Amino acid sequence: MREKLEQIRSEALRPLADAGTDLEEIRVRFLGKKGELTNVLRSMGQLSPEERPKIGQLANEVRQSIEDAIKARTEAAKGRALDLKLKAEKLDVTMPGKTPEVGHLHPLERVQREMEEIFIGMGFSIAEGPDVEYDYYNFQALNIPEGHPARDTQDTFYISDSVLLRSQTSPVQVRVMEKQKPPIRIISPGRVYRSDELDATHSPLFRQMEGLVVDKGITMGDLKGMLETFAKRMFGSSTRIRFRPHHFPFTEPSAEVDVSCFVCGGCGCRVCKGEGWIEILGAGMVHPFVLRNCGIDPEIYSGFAFGMGIERVTMTRYGIDDIRLFTDNDVRFLNQF
Ligand code: PHE
Repeated sequence: MREKLEQIRSEALRPLADAGTDLEEIRVRFLGKKGELTNVLRSMGQLSPEERPKIGQLANEVRQSIEDAIKARTEAAKGRALDLKLKAEKLDVTMPGKTPEVGHLHPLERVQREMEEIFIGMGFSIAEGPDVEYDYYNFQALNIPEGHPARDTQDTFYISDSVLLRSQTSPVQVRVMEKQKPPIRIISPGRVYRSDELDATHSPLFRQMEGLVVDKGITMGDLKGMLETFAKRMFGSSTRIRFRPHHFPFTEPSAEVDVSCFVCGGCGCRVCKGEGWIEILGAGMVHPFVLRNCGIDPEIYSGFAFGMGIERVTMTRYGIDDIRLFTDNDVRFLNQF
């Protein structure tokens, strides 16, 4: 019986050394209710009383060794499965990551913010007005009554006889002066509309930035000094400005203002079309009629105003020759900023 038990032990342990063996099959075959070891134990009755405990002990040892071997194999199999899983799911943190493409500000927005910074630095604050405006604010209060020829140059889109899309940011001057008494020092950036055909230099929708200063003793000299400071900060410290006489119904006297070409410095080149100067804005001293329309006494107060196209400033700054590029949404253009 001793030999039989040793035989069972070796027969059970041999296949357990092989990774492919079915562990459950081994357990049933040797340790199960009808298993080989159980059969041996059942026939123990035939043994002599001296032999019985010795064989019993040996049988227990054999059972224990088979159980241990099965357990060890089970653990090993679990470990291998984990290894495989780790290998398959491994994350290599040294691999270069996928960088998401991050956008940036549109060039117009960027220049607008830069312009705002410059004026805020000179003590201006930002005022806003509606894009959908009354004829009164856009024209009448600005000294442009019905039938005035200035309306032809700023033809816009009408919502009704008295409501339109503003053709300039100047109505914000009136809205601010109605609410606030001097001293006033505001800029007002925003969209304006004109029923112009879209071409390289015209667009039915563009941006302007209005400026308005009203206080006691404001002169044209203040206007000039302030615009010169702006031009130098925006286009470079060697920039000069030039005033040309002009007419706007809501300023008197009025001027168109040019900056010296930032490319050639004034000698004439492709960017300034040989002029040496680039026109960037309209300006003047606020007309007494306009002050009075807003309840400000022109005998006590005076002021200046200016308005410039943000597209124009951006085009001048970067040498862009077609206004349509701003709205084409071509990333090859936009990525250059
Ligand atoms: N609003 C004028 C325009 O659009 C510009 C301007 C503003 C002129 C303020 C003088 C004073 O042409």
